[in-house]
Amino acid sequence: MNSNGPGTDVVDLDRSRLPAHVAIIMDGNGRWAKKQLLNRIKGHEKGSETVRTIVRTSREIGIRFLTLYAFSTENWQRPKSEVGALMTLLKKFLKNELREMRENNIRLFALGEMERLPADVQETLQETMRLTEANTGMQLNLALSYGARSEILGAARALAGEVAAGCFPAAAITEEMLAERLYTKGMPDPDLLIRTSGEMRISNFLLWQIAYAEIFVTDTLWPDFGRDEYLQILKAFQLRERRFGNVPA
Ligand code: IPE
Ligand code: IPE
Ligand code: MG
Repeated sequence: MNSNGPGTDVVDLDRSRLPAHVAIIMDGNGRWAKKQLLNRIKGHEKGSETVRTIVRTSREIGIRFLTLYAFSTENWQRPKSEVGALMTLLKKFLKNELREMRENNIRLFALGEMERLPADVQETLQETMRLTEANTGMQLNLALSYGARSEILGAARALAGEVAAGCFPAAAITEEMLAERLYTKGMPDPDLLIRTSGEMRISNFLLWQIAYAEIFVTDTLWPDFGRDEYLQILKAFQLRERRFGNVPA
């Protein structure tokens, strides 16, 4: 990984060049468990501890939006037992973290097809979102039953419906209008996208929003990912030259 070596700390970061929005594909729980000769579920349990660490660190640094890919639309194909364990773990996480989110001024928000989640998980999510709604320190987005193609399709359908209803002509549709019909409505696009456990793919995550995100892939498995490596990536991000198609300044 292109990083600044161990020992990077919050003070080494340039406060004026922090990413406003960090998105993370949290991958490798299963491989971590396999390496320890454990059940995959144990990997997810350990992974949820990493979630807590990364949420805390992001809040401490002053990241405004953190989006974590927790469950994809494709993940429904996994064995029923694994899906069930992930849902139970999610509910437990929300219940355990509520106090800390309230104390630390963190707002929880969910992106994805909420209606596909089990009723008890939906209830806990709604409750957590409601109780943290007014918090302004950081927004923690959990992508749950999330798929970017389905999200974009939803926006396209919404726009088509509005055109059919005579709200505006198709030719008047702008990029902003489409973006306003995505789950991330009103949020800045991710500046930084991190994927753990080495896979060089996007796996249907935020396809529209990551158009100009800086991408970092680390071989570290999600349960082994932590504060130090996160800070190193942030430091390396600050050294990248973002040109947005322009010539260097
Ligand atoms: C990421 O870890 C968590 C989810 C996708 C829910 P994986 O479960 O995909 O772990 P690997 O990729 O099998 O190691
Ligand atoms: C992406 O990981 C989804 C999440 C991290 C929730 P996957 O493990 O599902 O992705 P693939 O199957 O390797 O593309
Ligand atoms: Mg995986």
